[in-house]
Amino acid sequence: MSEPALIEIRNATIWRGATRVFDNLNLTIEQHERVAVLGPNGSGKTTLLKTINRELYPVIADDSFVRILGRDQWNVWDLRRHIGIVSDDLQHRYAPKTTAIEVVVSGFHSSIGVHGTLAQRVNDEQIARARETLAVLGIADLAGTQLRSMSTGQQRRCLLGRALVHQPQTLILDEPTTGLDFAASFDYLDRIRDLSSRGCNIVLVTHHLSEIPPEVKRVIVLQEGRIAADGPKADVLDSTLLSAVYGTKIRIREIDGYFLAYPGAKT
Ligand SMILES: Nc1ncnc2c1ncn2[C@@H]1O[C@H](COP(=O)(O)OP(=O)(O)O)[C@@H](O)[C@H]1O
Ligand SMILES: [Mg+2]
Repeated sequence: MSEPALIEIRNATIWRGATRVFDNLNLTIEQHERVAVLGPNGSGKTTLLKTINRELYPVIADDSFVRILGRDQWNVWDLRRHIGIVSDDLQHRYAPKTTAIEVVVSGFHSSIGVHGTLAQRVNDEQIARARETLAVLGIADLAGTQLRSMSTGQQRRCLLGRALVHQPQTLILDEPTTGLDFAASFDYLDRIRDLSSRGCNIVLVTHHLSEIPPEVKRVIVLQEGRIAADGPKADVLDSTLLSAVYGTKIRIREIDGYFLAYPGAKT
């Protein structure tokens, strides 16, 4: 039997509040694909990731489904072992007093703070795994440090640690380098490349073409809740196509496997 797709979405209608973000969405991402998702603000990128991560559900209809790893039904705890997610949004949900080890350990509970209840709810093995994860990310020294005393880059590494503590097969990253300086961004991207080279599936949302690792071969562009383009990176990262989607002139260059977008000439 062939391996089930990471995600298979058929005829999905997905609402957020009073906004119908997707209508009749069809999308399949196989395992072991590395995918980047682009699109203007509000085009539905985060909504798509939250759907993959089962934080949002489509409207129930006979001919519609969202299947993750071949299954329609998941309990959240199981899914966390397969899919780790990092988003800026998540970072803001932690109290500033939360320590690095607490952030990482909270990955075992799919919850935000475990502050104050660490001893009761967490076993030694989980703490050991969380410490290992911090060490792998180069922030073992920060285990007892509170988020409010860390740089944004260090905070973001803690969140990556939270996503990685289960050693999930798939990592979903929603604008992971927002607010990071060059050193922190490049370091972060290196870690993602390393995970990818060790077989981790990557689905990356970004606004910065230069942050799409060379390993990512497929690019999906969303525009107002529909798929405006989906295909090989070199085809999709095309100036005419992206200029139309973003409504502004964009020029694109490829340099050493990376892509760069810069403003088009005024006419
Ligand atoms: N919590 C919410 N309630 C209502 N509408 C929302 C909510 N979150 C997002 N939206 C709307 O859904 C659409 C898609 O949002 P989103 O998926 O966050 O876009 P992106 O991540 O591409 O910027 C936007 O029109 C946005 O205004
Ligand atoms: Mg978003």
